[in-house]
Amino acid sequence: MKHVVFSDVHSNLEALSSVLDDIKSRNLEKAKKICLGDIVGYGPNPNECIDIVLDAVGENVVIGNHDRSVAWRIVGDARYLAEQFIMNQYAEWVLSWTAKNLNDKNKQRLVELVKSDKYIMGEENLIFTHSTPIEPGRMDYIESSYDATMYFFGDKKFKGKIAFAGHIHKPQLYHYNNETTRIDISKEMPLGKQNERMSKKFSLANSESSLIVVPGLGQPRDKNNKTGYVIYDSDSKTLEIIRLPYDFKQTQEKMVGADFPELLIERLALGR
Ligand SMILES: [Fe+2]
Repeated sequence: MKHVVFSDVHSNLEALSSVLDDIKSRNLEKAKKICLGDIVGYGPNPNECIDIVLDAVGENVVIGNHDRSVAWRIVGDARYLAEQFIMNQYAEWVLSWTAKNLNDKNKQRLVELVKSDKYIMGEENLIFTHSTPIEPGRMDYIESSYDATMYFFGDKKFKGKIAFAGHIHKPQLYHYNNETTRIDISKEMPLGKQNERMSKKFSLANSESSLIVVPGLGQPRDKNNKTGYVIYDSDSKTLEIIRLPYDFKQTQEKMVGADFPELLIERLALGR
């Protein structure tokens, strides 16, 4: 069985369209599709992205920290105020803009998602979360073998599992066989030409447990401005990472038109 997993759409309609077109062109429409959260934040098309993502994945979506922050603003839950201590001012600006610019239907859908408390989903030996498996509502970051061990491999209840996370916007693969090893996917995959689709397969067959941090679909930060997603084939235990060009200039133009912070506009071209 094949699973298509993507994360951190961040209201980037052009990147989302590129990924969904690729999924269609590869006859993966029947594969199970899962979104690891952060549908909104950072980008200019929150309504379109909520509509398209929920239509594509149905119930298979977990809560991201940006989704939660926008929902908290909509319902007046004061916990969003605490985020000024952990989020930068530019991210904060877009969260407020998003809360104001969502239509009523999507305000309701985002609030319901957050009310569901669905920070983690599981199925057989697979785990899906935005941040970490161990305490997903805390929104910790997995950026090293130490983090992967602390937040996943170190807990016996996750023995033999394969976890998928987002949140970092930099694709990584961690294997566990008595010790944790890390594969920096960004360094393993050549960038390719600007308009070139790149993909690479990794075997998970020889690992007791594995953790995959999937690419940031709508705001890549690994010095590669291409969008991306992953396919996991549970029959062959193979993970495929896909990076795709998309029209980020169009996204940038919309952001300029809506007076978005310059830093957020520029970073899309840089992949940072
Ligand atoms: Fe994110």
